[in-house]
Formats: sequence, C-alpha cells, structure tokens
Amino acid sequence: MIFPVRPLSGRWPAWLERSAKRFFWDDPRALLDENVSAELFRRLMAAVHVGDTIKITEANRHPMADTLLIESLDLTDASIVDIGCSDGSTSVDLIAKLPTFGTYTMADLYFHLDTMTVGRTVYFYDPDGSCILMSGRRFVAWPTQSKLIRLLSQPLIRRAAQRRGEHRQVLLLNPDARALMAGDERITYRVHDVFTPWEGARPDIIKVANLLRRFYFDDEKLMQGVLTILRVLPEGGHFLVVDNGRDGFPPRAGLYRRVGDSFGFVGNSGLDPEIHDLITQVSVATA
Ligand SMILES: C[S@@+](CC[C@H](N)C(=O)[O-])C[C@H]1O[C@@H](n2cnc3c(N)ncnc32)[C@H](O)[C@@H]1O
Repeated sequence: MIFPVRPLSGRWPAWLERSAKRFFWDDPRALLDENVSAELFRRLMAAVHVGDTIKITEANRHPMADTLLIESLDLTDASIVDIGCSDGSTSVDLIAKLPTFGTYTMADLYFHLDTMTVGRTVYFYDPDGSCILMSGRRFVAWPTQSKLIRLLSQPLIRRAAQRRGEHRQVLLLNPDARALMAGDERITYRVHDVFTPWEGARPDIIKVANLLRRFYFDDEKLMQGVLTILRVLPEGGHFLVVDNGRDGFPPRAGLYRRVGDSFGFVGNSGLDPEIHDLITQVSVATA
C-alpha cells in the first residue's frame, strides 16, 4: 500500500481536504457504530487488509456474472455458497436478482476483527492478533503494510496492550446483509477458507469473486483452491468465477460444471476469467 498513514476525512480544515481529497479516508471507527450506513460500511472494507488479501468490495460489482449464472441454470432449490464475499454486499445484489433459490451462504475467511479502544484510538486486530489498522483523532494507519509504520506504531500498540482498553469484536457483515439474514432463514453466513473442504451438505453452486487471482496467489496455491472446490461440488455442481477489472481487463466471469473428475466449461460473460486455464486443467484423478 502506498502511504499507509492517511488523514481522516472531516477532521481537518475543509480547504485542506478539498485540495487533497484522494488522500483522505473515512474513519474505520464507524465499523463499531450500530447505525453505520450500508454504503459507508462497504467503503470501509477497502481499509481492511487481512491475510494475503483486502476485503475491498463494491455494490453492483458483478452484474454480468450474476446474469450468466441466472440465465444458464435453473436455481430453484439450489444451495449457493459465495466464498470470499467480503461484507456480503455482492451477495445481497445477487440474492435480490434470484427468482428463487434453496439456500444462500455468505462465506469468508475473515468475518471478525477484534478491536480495542484506548482513549480516542481504536486498534483493529486480525485473527492472528496482529494490529492491522489503527484509527485515531486525525489519522488512520496500517501497521502491517509498511516496515516503517510498523516500527513507529510499535510503542503505541504495545502501550495499548498494557492498558485496559475496551475490547469489542466487529462482525464484518454489511447492514444490508444482516437485514436479509434476519428476515430470511435461507440466508446465512459462515467462516470458511477456500483452500479447505466445505463441512456439511455439499453446495450445488460455488461462487468465488475476486479471490482466486494471480494478484493474490501463485498458480500452485490457485490450483489447490480450484481442486478443493472441484472435490466439494457434486457431479453436475457449478463453479462461478468472477474477476473485476485489473491490468486493463474489463470484468470477466466463467461458469464451469463438474463432470466426472474435472470441470467442463459452461460459458463466460464475454471473456474467460484469469484462471480459466487452471480450472480446465485440474482433475481429481491426477491430483
Ligand atoms: C477482494 S475481496 C472480494 C470480495 C467480493 N467477492 C467482491 O468481489 O467484491 C476478497 C475476499 O476474500 C476473502 N478471503 C481472503 N482469503 C480467503 C480465504 N482463504 N478463504 C476465503 N475467503 C478469503 C477476504 O477476506 C475478502 O473478503
């Protein structure tokens, strides 16, 4: 990340913020606010760097992929799992378009962050206990994103650990996703690692968007993820892969069906996803 310390929006003279708007960030402390808007919550996902990825997401991010899925398959009674769904915003979009479905599980490896509030500063910790984000009166900083910031913030983080701050766990699920879950028992969420087998009933459809990408993982790891998904799916089960624009490519998506030991290609949204070659190579038989 370039400049892993940023000024917070609304805490500086208006003229200064206006003249350098793109450097200013929304305050991640809003994640602790029960009345935070869905839009701000979603925007704040861009501040959450956990593991090898960022929780960045957007509303209406996968229109072509969602259409590909809906037009290609009969989703009546389908159990759908959306792995790496971030705060569930794109799941909310897809669910709104589904004529009907069986169950929908929003899955992600990182749904919880621990926080500690000391004075005006909130420290956010990943599941390994590393402080990944700290937000104070005027600045937000990402200690794991730069050696210098890690070094400079170490004394503060150490002192915060010694003081008895207020501890709270934050659930990184968008208010809109929570509202959907509260009103529809078919919709749930689950902590899940895309590189491990799915526990319980096998889903009919697995969607993975903007996670299995070369930007984040090498080919060996990506093959491991694809093979795990192949093994989870029953015969005839489907895998939807979505990539949003990067390296000058427009959004692209591919739909694949498990046929025997491998994936058969069902269709794309115009362009194959980045790891199409890996998906069509993977086989349970040769693994
Ligand atoms: C770039 S975001 C994509 C969010 C959403 N799918 C979208 O397209 O807007 C990647 C997501 O994958 C999650 N993630 C990272 N590693 C994961 C893993 N091993 N298993 C499951 N989810 C993971 C991150 O927490 C993050 O929410």
